[in-house]
Amino acid sequence: MVDTAPRATIIDGKAFAAGLVERITAATMRLEHDHGVRPGLAVVIVGDDPASQIYVRNKGETTTRAGMRSETHRLADTTTQTDLLALVQTLNADPGIHGILVQLPLPAQIDSSAVLGAIDPDKDVDGFHVVNAGRLAVGLPGLVPCTPLGSTMLLKATLGDLSGLHAVIVGRSNIVGKPMAQLLLAENCTVTVAHSRSRDLPALCRSADILVAAVGRPEMIRGDWIKPGATVIDVGINRVPSADPVKAAEGKTRVVGDVAFSEATTVAGGVTPVPGGIGPMTIACLLANTYVAACRSAGVESERLDA
Ligand code: GUN
Repeated sequence: MVDTAPRATIIDGKAFAAGLVERITAATMRLEHDHGVRPGLAVVIVGDDPASQIYVRNKGETTTRAGMRSETHRLADTTTQTDLLALVQTLNADPGIHGILVQLPLPAQIDSSAVLGAIDPDKDVDGFHVVNAGRLAVGLPGLVPCTPLGSTMLLKATLGDLSGLHAVIVGRSNIVGKPMAQLLLAENCTVTVAHSRSRDLPALCRSADILVAAVGRPEMIRGDWIKPGATVIDVGINRVPSADPVKAAEGKTRVVGDVAFSEATTVAGGVTPVPGGIGPMTIACLLANTYVAACRSAGVESERLDA
């Protein structure tokens, strides 16, 4: 008989993120008390995509709860690139703003890379500027994209030393896959970056001690793609019709990851759930980056934030 009993630890990203936000909040209070600097984050959203609106509201609320200054700039979806670039320049020059995040995607009339490239790299709390990508690639201090940063923190908290482990990252985006590869290399993992053209993806995945799924395809990674005992990080956030056909017919949806979660729990050693895994870590790391950017702007050494 096949044993399908759950064996995986469910890695509680939500709880770890709450602890991280507490540490950032305490560090933020000390930075303001000792050095008179209150970290400030400006979030810019163009248009009214409902998912982006929810993300942006969450970011604003968490920033304020951490004791930081939070500004949200909501622009119409007809905004021109020139006007958006002018706002970025204003925020670059504002000494009370230490972090700038322009929510993606942007409307078609705007060239995203021109906008991301206009953000002062020292305020680029998304870590998307080519200067920060370059700093990460050569091991210089910079600002690191939030989702891979949060995923790496959670892996270290779960597994301790990652040296020598084989990490397979499925997805090669600039936002997750590539920076994740850099971070895991820096932790002395052996790193494979797999993608849509990789041959025999299931076999590649089965060779992973650490499997990072960042493809944006609902439940693509099946249980039998996972090595028994492996640690699985699910970065996907995919909205699909409700599992209940009546609710699905009413247009109700649910959120699933890139990993078939219940199958993964029967094989993996640990797996992050969706929701409640990597998502909360991403927001916590945005605050961590804002705190670090504020410390650097003031010439103050930042406190260690990992547990
Ligand atoms: N849209 C979805 N995720 C992100 C993110 O991490 N940063 C930005 N700027 N936009 C996003």
